[in-house]
Order: sequence, then structure tokens, then C-alpha cells
Amino acid sequence: MRQEEIVRSFQVAGQGHVFAFWPELDTARRAALVAQAAEIDLDEVARLHRTLVLERHAAADLRALAPAPYESLPEKGGDPAKWARARATGEEALRAGRVAAFTVAGGQGSRLGYDGPKGAFAVTPVKRKPLFQVFAEKILAAGRRHGRPLEWFIMTSHANHEATEAFFAQHGWFGLARERVHFFRQGRMPAVGFDGRILLEGKGAIALSPDGHGGSLRALHRSGALGLMAELGIDTLSYFQVDNPLARCIDPAFIGFHLLAGSEMSSKMVPKAYPEEKVGHFCVQDGRLVVIEYSDLPPAVQRETHADGSLRFVAGSIAIHLIDREFARRMAGGGVGVQLPFHRADKKIQTIDAAGRPVKPDKPNGVKFEMFVFDALPFARKPIIIETRRADDFSPVKNAEGVDSPQTCRDDQLRQFARWLNAAGARVPVDATGLPALALEISPLFGDDAESVAASWRRLPSPPELKPDLYLE
Ligand code: UTP
Repeated sequence: MRQEEIVRSFQVAGQGHVFAFWPELDTARRAALVAQAAEIDLDEVARLHRTLVLERHAAADLRALAPAPYESLPEKGGDPAKWARARATGEEALRAGRVAAFTVAGGQGSRLGYDGPKGAFAVTPVKRKPLFQVFAEKILAAGRRHGRPLEWFIMTSHANHEATEAFFAQHGWFGLARERVHFFRQGRMPAVGFDGRILLEGKGAIALSPDGHGGSLRALHRSGALGLMAELGIDTLSYFQVDNPLARCIDPAFIGFHLLAGSEMSSKMVPKAYPEEKVGHFCVQDGRLVVIEYSDLPPAVQRETHADGSLRFVAGSIAIHLIDREFARRMAGGGVGVQLPFHRADKKIQTIDAAGRPVKPDKPNGVKFEMFVFDALPFARKPIIIETRRADDFSPVKNAEGVDSPQTCRDDQLRQFARWLNAAGARVPVDATGLPALALEISPLFGDDAESVAASWRRLPSPPELKPDLYLE
């Protein structure tokens, strides 16, 4: 579309104010504004404003909701032979190069308040490794173990793309082959005021923000990542979030269960820590797997128990999934009935007033629209869920302090390292919660689970002295 046509389409849609400062903009800024405007689907914005803001989003549909079934861990009654078979199948897929790692790192990380891509945040207890390095080493270790290096896809946002690429370059891609690390940007959505008018960030800039982790499916497609996967013979993406360094990002048993079931999308669950834990709940509705957010599930339902007192809706989502490549392509196509829904989030959005003066709101002044990746589950054929141990897979860094903060994540890493070492025969003193008194750290290249740590431990010529800041690599 030509410039004038774009401006005209905004005027027709009642969004002409986006170009209110046109006379003040030089040619370059005009072109940049028009390029931003061209990204926007005006019909979609109008529809989202009507359905999610004006009609105030009908309460979530909770008809005939049942807890979702899942594959229990062997120590919780699962069949050990089935787990062993799944693991062998996953290992074979890894040896065949069918699996790629996939990190979503396009979020704004506003709760943490860290200035820079969240993946650059220093997270480990001794070496202060950034999140990206932890995953890089896990991916490197998995590649070595299975004799086949893995490709790694990383979704960034417009805001952090360059900084993310520069960070990897600065650190020599953390030992990975540069050509195996693939960055691509996710899409953006405009923020709107409660009246539906698209907000401006500046005189020549629209307030655009990332379209949510659910935007990853269409971004994978648009960026050519799915095409590249097909060329390389990769059919499965191992999806994890940039803020959870405990995630076993390449997990053979999980991969095996997914492949053996012929599933298009699979997820890991942990039993909720307490009835009203703020996690998404895996449920079944009309024969389809769905994730219902805690905010949509009445507290009484969250607390429901079976006759034996155990929680009915026990399966919490930890945002670790496996996604079939062709399923991602189908979802990205967005044909009738396969569109991920948008969710609204009321936010304080920095904008300008009609005179062009900056406005710093102290309460929400508008709405952002985001898609969630777990909303793809109901569209997937044969989706499955497996149980995992929280201590082995989940301790995200979300907040600057308190729950899910750098401190809780550091402690959980320390507990994990101490647990692995003690299982290998070391004698690391720990308190009642399993937290060691001394800081220590294990590189994923030494071991990334109890078994591999024990194997490396046995290979050491002599057990190292257990002193503060012990680092095993
Ligand atoms: P969160 O929902 O925790 O959001 O993202 P966030 O943006 O990182 O943090 P806050 O809410 O502003 O504090 C969970 C994961 O999804 C990714 C994040 O990078 C993180 O890995 N994500 C989120 C995206 O990749 N894109 C998005 O648009 C949103």
C-alpha cells in the first residue's frame, strides 16, 4: 500500500489521529511511522476493542470442565517401563536430529525491571552466568550426549532483537556454533486507549508491544524458521521460556512420550503447590485439552478435592511444551477456527496527549493485546501431558523480589546442585529445605541431571574439597 492509502485507511477507521503530527515529521520519521502503521490490521484492532474492551470479555466458559489426565512420574504410580521406553524413543529422536530447542525471549520483563534482554540477566549462584548461557550449556551438553548438535531458535522482540544478537556475539555464542543459533523477531500489536483509539508513544511512533508468547507460532512461520526446520529434518520444537533456568530444555522422556503418542503439542505439569497457586490449570472440556488461568477458575473449583482429600484440579502448567513443526504451520496459517484468541491486559502505557506532551500514567490508561501459546492446545491432535518434579524443572525469575525472584531461583539452583552432588556420594551439608550453607555451582557441561552429575563425579580423579564457591565444569 502506498503512504497516502495507509493514512487514508487509518482515517476511515477512525484512527486518523495517529498522523496528527505529520506536518512536524521529517521524511525519515514519516516513513518510519507509515511502516509501523502498515503492520497493523485495523479490522483486527476494531474487533478486539469491541469484543475484549466494550463487551467486557464474557466470563470464561467453564461448562463441563474436568481435570486433564496426565502421565504420572514413576515414583507417583507411573509405569517405569513406559518411562524407559519414552526416554529411549526421545534419545533416538535426538540422535537423529529431529528436535530443536526453542526459547521465547521477546517479553518485556517489566516485573523484574532489568534493563536489557531478560536472557542477559545474571542468574547462577557462583559464576553469575546469564540465563542464555545456562540454556546454551544445556543445549551443548544434550548435543554432545546424543552425538548430534542441536539447532536453537530464539524469539526476540523488536525492542530487544539487536541487543540479544549483540550479547551472543560478545560471548562467542557461549560455545555453540554460530550458524546453529537462529534469532527472529515476534510480531507486534498496537496498544489502544479504553476508547479504542490507537495510542502514540511519540509524535512519530505508535505504542506497539510484543504480541505475546502465542505470537511465536506465526513468527516461526513468517521468519522462515519452520521452512529451515523442514530442510534440516527437524519436526519437533522444544519450547521453554527464557526466565526459567531450571527447565530441562531438552528432555528425552518428554520427547519420547510426545512422539509415541503422535501428539502435535505436549506439555509438562507439576502438581500445584497449594490449591490457589497462581498457575494455569490443565483441564479437559468437550474432549479438548485446555489451560484455564487461575484468574478464570473460581476459588471454590480450585480447592475441590476427591474423596481421599487430594486436589481435583491439580495439574499446573509450567510453560514447557513440545510443538510439532507442521502443527505450528497450521496454527500460523490462521484458517477458519484455528486462530489463537487474544487476551487483554490493562496497562500503564506511556503515551502523548493531543498537544504532543508526554503522559506518564499512574494507573492503567489502555489495553495491550496478547496471545498465549497454551491456547494452541485445544487445536492439537492427541495432546499429552506428563508430570515433572518442580525442583527439577521450574523456578522462574519473574519479580525483582519475593516469590519467583532472583533470590528464590538462586536458592532452588543451589538445592538442585546439592541434591545431585549428595546423590553422587558427596556430603554437602544442607538445611531442612535442602539449601546448602555454601554457594556452589555445577555447569550443565559437567552434568544436568542426577545421573549425568553422578557419572562425571565418578570420573573425577579425586573428590574436590567442598569449599565455598565450588564450581564444577
Ligand atoms: P511473561 O508472561 O512472564 O512476561 O513471559 P514478560 O514480558 O517476560 O514479563 P512481565 O510480565 O513484563 O514482567 C513469559 C515468557 O514468554 C516470553 C517472555 O520472554 C518469557 O520468556 N514472552 C512473553 C515473549 O517471548 N513474548 C511476549 O510477547 C511475551
